[in-house]
Amino acid sequence: MNIAAGAETNNGRLADKPVILQMAELARFPYRSIGDRFEVIRYWQIDEPNAMLARDGAKVRGMIAAGSQRIDDVILDKLPNLEVIANIGVGYDRLDIEAVARRGIIATNTPDVLTEEVADLTVGLLIATVRRMPQAERHIRDGRWAKSPFPNSPSLRGRSVGIVGLGRIGKAVARRLQGFEVSEICYCGRTRQADVPYRHFKDIREMAAHISVLILTLPGGPETKGLVDADVLAKLGSDGIIVNVARGAVIEKDALIAALRDGAILAAGLDVFWNEPEVPQELLALDNVVLLPHVGSASQKTRAEMIELLQDNLFAWFEGRGPLTPVAETPWQGGNGE
Ligand code: DGY
Repeated sequence: MNIAAGAETNNGRLADKPVILQMAELARFPYRSIGDRFEVIRYWQIDEPNAMLARDGAKVRGMIAAGSQRIDDVILDKLPNLEVIANIGVGYDRLDIEAVARRGIIATNTPDVLTEEVADLTVGLLIATVRRMPQAERHIRDGRWAKSPFPNSPSLRGRSVGIVGLGRIGKAVARRLQGFEVSEICYCGRTRQADVPYRHFKDIREMAAHISVLILTLPGGPETKGLVDADVLAKLGSDGIIVNVARGAVIEKDALIAALRDGAILAAGLDVFWNEPEVPQELLALDNVVLLPHVGSASQKTRAEMIELLQDNLFAWFEGRGPLTPVAETPWQGGNGE
């Protein structure tokens, strides 16, 4: 869908169009404007958000959820007529989804369009971590190659891989790994999935003791916070590699730093962090970790498709067609919109 540029406003002059509160700039998205269809309040540019919410909060009917602002009762209380929250990304842990659902607000996310892109990045990050590709590149750039060859790296060959979160992205990662002839692919989850050929573990500790590569593709949020702790890392062991493209909080930060520093695990590849865009100094100082700035879905093509899906959800909602991709906790039962 083509969106014309330019008509958003931030000046409190709210017209007849549905009013959308956009929480953060979509800086890495090829986002132009939805100002021809909606009146957009740019929350992140407002000096006194509480005053704005007191004045205009009741006019807001839609939200674009982006950035690190948590969407919970504190802000929802100020938006009594909010109908729909369009979340950028497949992960919607920035929403207190229980509070959203309780109020009868529909939340949408951007699944499917990013699955293959994130899976590519995950496998790329795994190989970069195992074969120490960024370190090898630094070896050249620092002028060290002529003096000494780059040391041999560990190998992916013969490793058993465990995936936590065998959803759409986890399955796409597993499919790719089949082409790499790893020794075994396992997954961990509450229930065994009938349609997959991989070994199932109910317990992450049991799986960690069985594998040497742990890949995290599970949703973030309170239920999965701190799932990977010192015990899981110890069970993964000194040859163990962890790749996290899920959310930083899924791993206990101090436990991971200690495990990497003390050799309790071999290496980590991280695309996500605990308080982005901050990256702990201790990690920056370590040579056995590969760090990416949360770019799992960040190709030009996929980001364009994500923003299009987000916008299409808002268009569909306000045209009375219902949301296109509501999240599981806020299923659409009909009867919305204009
Ligand atoms: C997601 O979709 O949740 C990703 O983390 C955004 O890149």
